Amino acid sequence: MKQQTFIIAITGASGSIYGLRLISALMTLPVRLYVLVSKSGRQVAAHETDFKSGLLVDYLKQKDIVSHKMSELLEIDPADSFASIASGSFQHSGMVISPCSMNTLAAISTGITNNLIHRSADVCLKEKRPLILLPRETPLSLIHLENMTRLAKAGAVIMPPSPGFYTRPATIDDLVDTIVARVLDHLNLDNDLSVRWGN
Ligand SMILES: Cc1cc2nc3c(=O)[nH]c(=O)nc-3n(C[C@H](O)[C@H](O)[C@H](O)COP(=O)(O)O)c2cc1C
Repeated sequence: MKQQTFIIAITGASGSIYGLRLISALMTLPVRLYVLVSKSGRQVAAHETDFKSGLLVDYLKQKDIVSHKMSELLEIDPADSFASIASGSFQHSGMVISPCSMNTLAAISTGITNNLIHRSADVCLKEKRPLILLPRETPLSLIHLENMTRLAKAGAVIMPPSPGFYTRPATIDDLVDTIVARVLDHLNLDNDLSVRWGN
């Protein structure tokens, strides 16, 4: 299996677990991940999960995630505007923002690139590379909805993390995996994280 490269960002919306489970699932595959966690993303994750501080690789080790021998995780500071992923010349197979805050959603939908997360997403849209956003807010204002519409028109996949219950999820991890499985499907990565309807 050829090693593929993806960009994964965690921003400061509730639901950091969706980003952390996605990274854990991806690391079991031969992938190179460029991971960005916004300042608010780190704060919310520390509040909601046991990813308190430090490096994500250490967190994965502590969670006993068995990474594929051909997987790599490169954590990048969202303030580093000189990183390779800021350029359209950087080749990758897609970017996921999970969860995506309304702040980050608004920035991308208006083309404002205040940090490397916004810039990388902006580059995905201009280069026609897959961009998957998992926006989390409720209820949604007209501004949120219009930002999502604009991004969908520009080519992004808007995938609100609203899990299905028809698989009878027994735990929070099962529930989260119903969403992570859909993200992996959209990245064209084989997975059996969640039961498929009809199987
Ligand atoms: C505990 C907590 C939960 C939050 N949940 C959400 C949320 O679900 N959706 C959202 O858009 N913002 C949420 N926020 C607010 C964002 O963190 C805030 O808008 C921040 O500026 C986002 O920055 P970022 O887009 O750079 O990560 C939350 C903040 C806190 C402290």
